[in-house]
Amino acid sequence: MKSERAGGLRRRALDVLDRNRRGDWTCPSSRIYPHQWLWDSCFVAIGLARADPERAASEVRALLRGQWANGMLPHMIFAPDVRDAGSRRLWRSRADARAPRDVATSCITQPPLPAVAAWHVAAALPDDRAGAFLAEVVPAIVRYHEWLYRERDLRGDGLVALVHPWECGLDTTPSWMQLLARWRGPWWMRIAQRLRLARVVRFFRTDTRYLPATQRASDDDGLRMLALARVAKRHGFDAARISLSGDGVLVEDLAFNTLLALANECLRDLARRTGTSIDPSLEARLALTGGALDSLWDDARGHPTSRDVTTGDAVDAPTIAMLLPLVTDLPPERAAQLVAVLRAARFQPAHPVPSVPTDAAEFDPERYWKGPTWVNTNWLLVRGLERHGEHALAAELAGHTLDMVDEHGFAEYFSPLTGEGYGAPEFSWTAALVLELLAVV
Ligand code: GLC
Repeated sequence: MKSERAGGLRRRALDVLDRNRRGDWTCPSSRIYPHQWLWDSCFVAIGLARADPERAASEVRALLRGQWANGMLPHMIFAPDVRDAGSRRLWRSRADARAPRDVATSCITQPPLPAVAAWHVAAALPDDRAGAFLAEVVPAIVRYHEWLYRERDLRGDGLVALVHPWECGLDTTPSWMQLLARWRGPWWMRIAQRLRLARVVRFFRTDTRYLPATQRASDDDGLRMLALARVAKRHGFDAARISLSGDGVLVEDLAFNTLLALANECLRDLARRTGTSIDPSLEARLALTGGALDSLWDDARGHPTSRDVTTGDAVDAPTIAMLLPLVTDLPPERAAQLVAVLRAARFQPAHPVPSVPTDAAEFDPERYWKGPTWVNTNWLLVRGLERHGEHALAAELAGHTLDMVDEHGFAEYFSPLTGEGYGAPEFSWTAALVLELLAVV
């Protein structure tokens, strides 16, 4: 990208992040997503580290406000001044003794990127500031990883289980929606489905008030996700209790565990640098996840998949998650297999990389995680391609992503066919990761 265009894009990206700034943290998009989200703030911090490392450091610190006594970092921290009764009522975190008293949060987590964000922020700060920042955040992030392994690694194999698709960040991704479509669910969900009343979920959502319903989660998916959250709540959002009850859905999610392997690498590096001691049993788990991902590999299909914890079966739905292990330390032959999958026509429409391959039954170019191209997954893939020496492909994808945003704006997601922007406008991680991508091309 020519330097004049790049300069303009950078300025516009910073403007978006300024408009979405709420003091110490940044909301994903002012009207649709007015609260703080876990992985969004991590992407924001990673991008801001390029422009304003002190603000990036506050973004990570602000996430720790939400930490539960058991170590969990919640996927949402509610903004005190925003009325969002439906969502707050679903969680009611303060009714749980483990939740913080001074902020309201959700009761589930999201992709564990704080260690990755802290790593980027520390690399950008001057040495003395980096030392103070890490001394503050690393112990809390260690407690978060301890929680992940203590409460979610149900089989002790280094892979953690998720209790809800909102935890994987790719909310309506076909792998989870297939499992939810087969899930029995509570009686009221079955009745609502039989009477075709799924539309009632619109009363509980704000997104379809402002955005075309064709771009958002369908009513059926929305109803099932709401029902699953209520069932998980009945079991205290406790994976072991959910597993015993047989009522919920538990998944060893490929995207989440991949990002956990990456975060573990960053955390071990940060702990070494700060002299933070990691309990030997946690150290063993941290080392296990990267290799354990190999057990999710399906040789017949030629790529990895998520696993349904209840049945032990692979979840057979092609999605962008299968490419994400490129961000980890894969053996060269595995990396080459994934690069070949990425190069195939189904993942290379005019504006790659689609969240679902274009030949899949579920592919829908407009709808949320069912096909659109997202800037965060593109950034992860650029990073993964670089890691495995695919520099030309990485530069091509980075350049293409920047052109798409330059032409179509800082949308939440984009049509992989036309590049048109969809979902929430002025989306923070799109803007932040543009700052990162501009630095790598
Ligand atoms: C949507 C996305 C999720 C994101 C949230 C806030 O729910 O699916 O990944 O964290 O919006 O931007």
